Amino acid sequence: MTEQKNREKLRVGVVLGGMSSEREISLESGRNIYFNLNPEKYEGIPIFLDAQGTFWQIPLQLLVQNTTTDITARLEDEASRIAYEELKSVADFIYIGLHGKYGEDGCLQGLLELLGIPYTGSGVMASAIGMDKLMQRKLLAGAGIHVPKYLAITEREWGENEEDLLGQVEDTLGYPCVVKPTREGCSTGLSVVREPGQMGSALKNAFQWDTTALVEELLVGMEITCGVIGNREMTALPPTETLRKGDFLTVEEKFLPGEGENITPARLPEEVIRRVQEVMVQAYRVLGLKVYARMDGFVVDGEVIVSEPNTLPGMTPSTCIFHEAAEVGISPMEFVDRIIQLSLEAHAHKKGPLA
Ligand SMILES: Nc1ncnc2c1ncn2[C@@H]1O[C@H](COP(=O)(O)OP(=O)(O)O)[C@@H](O)[C@H]1O
Ligand SMILES: [Mg+2]
Repeated sequence: MTEQKNREKLRVGVVLGGMSSEREISLESGRNIYFNLNPEKYEGIPIFLDAQGTFWQIPLQLLVQNTTTDITARLEDEASRIAYEELKSVADFIYIGLHGKYGEDGCLQGLLELLGIPYTGSGVMASAIGMDKLMQRKLLAGAGIHVPKYLAITEREWGENEEDLLGQVEDTLGYPCVVKPTREGCSTGLSVVREPGQMGSALKNAFQWDTTALVEELLVGMEITCGVIGNREMTALPPTETLRKGDFLTVEEKFLPGEGENITPARLPEEVIRRVQEVMVQAYRVLGLKVYARMDGFVVDGEVIVSEPNTLPGMTPSTCIFHEAAEVGISPMEFVDRIIQLSLEAHAHKKGPLA
């Protein structure tokens, strides 16, 4: 009877954990997604991706653990390993609850394309571009969208040409400036550099995470973030104003309740709010994003500067995308449902892998 009933529901594998520096946030996101699956329509299956890239179907008692380390320690005894080729027999659809490298950057998307399993969010190419702050800047700037002034420096170039590069930073950006790895999230490897003497250690820190780093102008103004939803037709949610205590938003401020303060909608005049929404939809379109993303940026003297997209935005209970959705009357469960439906629609229309 239950077997029969369950079969009518789409089996949604919620993948969480993963191989990136953002795995603890992914656990929070994935768990929240799982508990917000509409039980009338979906059968949720929690799937843990461990740090080595192995999938495990985990029971509820593991899903509610505090950390991915706690889960990892109990996998062998309490979870069942899923070989890649078996994934399709476990889930009809994957809700990707991961963030960062290998989960948000097109790698997992590519694997799911090979396995023939539809999944949430952007496709292979847009996910890769969404993760790479250098590539996305080139596309955005090419389309006339305002991005921060930046200089890209590779680990090799820095090793060979330190003096020269310091001169270029001085001439094009000045101090203070921001140094970050090209493909990370959650402020990983990011620092604010106030004078040339700090550049070496800031770059060394960034190069721990990627072989190319961006040095960029320090933006001062209102930091905002804005959810965009849709495939061919896109809607921007009311943008959020993010307040930070230090130089940049820490991972705790972004995702933990009571840390960091978000104000939705942002305290901006109506016409600036509309402009933010327009620019963010335009950036989403230029980058080829699908289903949903949270677009980060700054408003400086009324002008909108796009800093980066998050193609698998945080889905923890306290995250601002749910506040933005609530502003337009969408509950978390309805939001998760809408993401799944939009994803199914995107996969139904694709030719080859979802771009
Ligand atoms: N150019 C900048 N000027 C001012 N603050 C910045 C700049 N770049 C990053 N930050 C701060 O650091 C945070 C993280 O940087 P971001 O580029 O969004 O990378 P991540 O992928 O880690 O979220 C931002 O939310 C912002 O608070
Ligand atoms: Mg960001």
